[in-house]
Amino acid sequence: MEKNSSFIDAVHYRRSVRVYNENIEIDTEIVRKCIGQATLAPNSSNMQLWEFHHITSYEILKKLYVACLGQSTAKTAKQLVVVVVRKDLWKQRAKANIDNLNRLFGEKSKSEYTSREKFAMNYYKKLMPFVYSDFLGIFGYIKYFISWVTGIFKPSYRQLRNSDLRIVTHKSAGLAAQTFMLSMAAEGYDTCPMEGTDSLRIKKILNLPSGSEINMTISCGVRNPEGVYGERFRIPFNEIYKQW
Ligand SMILES: Cc1cc2nc3c(=O)[nH]c(=O)nc-3n(C[C@H](O)[C@H](O)[C@H](O)COP(=O)(O)O)c2cc1C
Repeated sequence: MEKNSSFIDAVHYRRSVRVYNENIEIDTEIVRKCIGQATLAPNSSNMQLWEFHHITSYEILKKLYVACLGQSTAKTAKQLVVVVVRKDLWKQRAKANIDNLNRLFGEKSKSEYTSREKFAMNYYKKLMPFVYSDFLGIFGYIKYFISWVTGIFKPSYRQLRNSDLRIVTHKSAGLAAQTFMLSMAAEGYDTCPMEGTDSLRIKKILNLPSGSEINMTISCGVRNPEGVYGERFRIPFNEIYKQW
């Protein structure tokens, strides 16, 4: 495989591959490295509410192929990566950020904090619990209503309902998924993101808790030339590009 070491080359090389070369294995360590690079993607409040399940076991690949509705990209994939949203881990992730800030700021009393340090601490100690805590979706609607009222008078953050936060977390996971796919392209490896899957079955196969959500499942391998279905089609740029 030729590597696409320039970012532009990787962007152009990446295609959704539906049939992989059955004779070419991929290196698990390289895929793992690409997942590591995916975790460097920007993400909302650095809460990192994601997990990456790297499937190399033949038995689990076979089960996931069925849960991927028998898609050829899953059938011929050498490995799979399931990107999982873990909104349910918000308390642990907020704490990890607080621990990191404590490490950065060093041992000192609260009164010694600069205003920037105070802001950062309050962000994870107060704002994140306010944004992420909910009870049967009810608290989310109350928060949303409050932000709607204050929004009449000043710009306000409005993504406070459970449905909004699902979008928030899936956005970040999607950015990580794309970073992964571009990292793979840089290595000369191929991928195909899939959402045409039975997410409930995937969760069961991977033993995931009910609070988790499947963002996408990404097949991995090395392309068969006919595994790329035609030339890339995009809506003309001037139709989707608006300069203001
Ligand atoms: C969120 C998402 C879900 C997708 N789901 C599937 C899928 O289930 N099966 C599939 O074959 N391709 C799937 N695709 C691939 C798209 O069809 C593909 O990206 C698009 O046709 C553009 O082609 P390209 O990736 O080769 O540029 C998905 C892509 C995205 C971003």
